[in-house]
Amino acid sequence: MTQDQIGPAPHPVPPVVGRRSPQPSVPAPGREPRPGLVRRLLDHPALILPRDFTLFLVGARTDAAIERTRAAHGARAAFEAAYTRSSDPWASATPRYRYQQRKYEQIMALLPDRQRFRSALDLGCGLGLLSQHLAGRCDAVLGIDVAAAALCHARTRAAGIPNLRFEQGDLLHLPTELDGRFDLVVVADTLYYLSPLGDDLLKALSARIADLLAPGGLCLLANHFFFTADADSRRSRRIHDAFAWSHRFSVRSEHRRAFFLATLLDRRDDACL
Ligand SMILES: C[S@@+](CC[C@H](N)C(=O)[O-])C[C@H]1O[C@@H](n2cnc3c(N)ncnc32)[C@H](O)[C@@H]1O
Repeated sequence: MTQDQIGPAPHPVPPVVGRRSPQPSVPAPGREPRPGLVRRLLDHPALILPRDFTLFLVGARTDAAIERTRAAHGARAAFEAAYTRSSDPWASATPRYRYQQRKYEQIMALLPDRQRFRSALDLGCGLGLLSQHLAGRCDAVLGIDVAAAALCHARTRAAGIPNLRFEQGDLLHLPTELDGRFDLVVVADTLYYLSPLGDDLLKALSARIADLLAPGGLCLLANHFFFTADADSRRSRRIHDAFAWSHRFSVRSEHRRAFFLATLLDRRDDACL
């Protein structure tokens, strides 16, 4: 019997005899039983288990392969090849690694409490794992990725989620029909793959993403961040700074987590376009 099944307990629990009253087996309404200290420590979002570090090695191997293929065949072919070689190139959905799942939960927790979104866009959605989380907070979610192979996996994984759909597209060439259609745009671990990632491109990108948002819309950026001396982390810092300095956005909050950086930005409606 699984935990979710309802029915009699397989072994009846003997009554507790003695002076101390037994713990009620059913918590009082509104009072969940508090997990033990060890469980709470293990569930702490900042805890990274040693095995989670192998996840970063898997990612580094994928990134190296993408670099090699990109040099010979271009960026899109490189991402297609990554998702053809593996159904989970960054081991984001592999249950043995908890880091990535927690990261999605932490990213979702950065969204304003209780706010529900009408229409969200997940740019560079990959397997659509974050898109699935978004589907719980949004009336409709669109995931866009440059790799058709990624979307094949994403659609299979999201079968049965009616408010989530995926389309193939390059975030550098998004159709203008999408403009103003979203009250939330999320871009996670995607922008640092753009190459060359110069200041002009970042400026154009922040303006393009602002165009996608409806007035009052929010943009949430999340990018891996180890420590300032690391070259990749410096690229993430540069991306977040470019959006923060854009006259199209104002920073609502910035968050350093193990091991990523997240910035929540408001589309500025007073900006002179
Ligand atoms: C590391 S994965 C991140 C996937 C997802 N955002 C997540 O957090 O699970 C990076 C994704 O960016 C996509 N990507 C890279 N360049 C892109 C572009 N120019 N337009 C759209 N997607 C792109 C890749 O295909 C890949 O799925």
